[in-house]
Amino acid sequence: MGKEEEERESSDVEEDDDECSEKTTHFGSARNMVATSLDSQDKLCSKYSNAIANVRELEERGCLVLYGVDAKNMSQHFFLSTQRFDRVVYNFPHVGFLFREESYCQIQLNKRLVKGFLKNAKLLLKKEGGEIHISHKEGHPYNKWHLEKKAHKIGLVLTQSVPFCKDDYPGYDNKRAHGTLSDASFHLGDCTTYMFTLA
Ligand SMILES: C[S@@+](CC[C@H](N)C(=O)[O-])C[C@H]1O[C@@H](n2cnc3c(N)ncnc32)[C@H](O)[C@@H]1O
Repeated sequence: MGKEEEERESSDVEEDDDECSEKTTHFGSARNMVATSLDSQDKLCSKYSNAIANVRELEERGCLVLYGVDAKNMSQHFFLSTQRFDRVVYNFPHVGFLFREESYCQIQLNKRLVKGFLKNAKLLLKKEGGEIHISHKEGHPYNKWHLEKKAHKIGLVLTQSVPFCKDDYPGYDNKRAHGTLSDASFHLGDCTTYMFTLA
């Protein structure tokens, strides 16, 4: 999950935003934002040099920051389960570098994460106009995650896929989020933001 425009350290941003059209300038008109992180607050601060400042800024903008939220079961979270969002966003889902990136095991784990996220995000979406956004790298082995196919099976419809351009998000820096280089960014190459709605 992530913070839309700042350095991303968490994995999802859910926005309840009736006027949500701008995603290029510091959350635009977004209101009622919730940012979630799999990491605990302590872990987040130890992994990322800007974590404290980013969390503070999010909170100053009225965003609720939740820690220890697993995207694979977030719809059961005691607070999230009471909410419905216009947008649920996860930039560059990835379980971390447990095996070689192109190995079967690694791909299976990443596919499981994406499937779990999509299923849970679907339950948290507003029925009218709700969208799930996933930004994802193109090419091998990422095309083997079969994002679109997965979403279709879950009952989601791909409405748009647009090139992801980091420059559209001033202040954002993608993070490896794993290992000793967790605070480092990774090579993006060709990336796409996939947008899904309820079928
Ligand atoms: C490649 S990093 C991307 C981080 C950030 N979203 C960005 O755009 O730079 C993958 C992220 O997925 C998170 N993640 C992995 N498994 C997760 C899970 N089960 N639930 C929620 N987040 C998870 C990691 O903690 C990490 O932050």
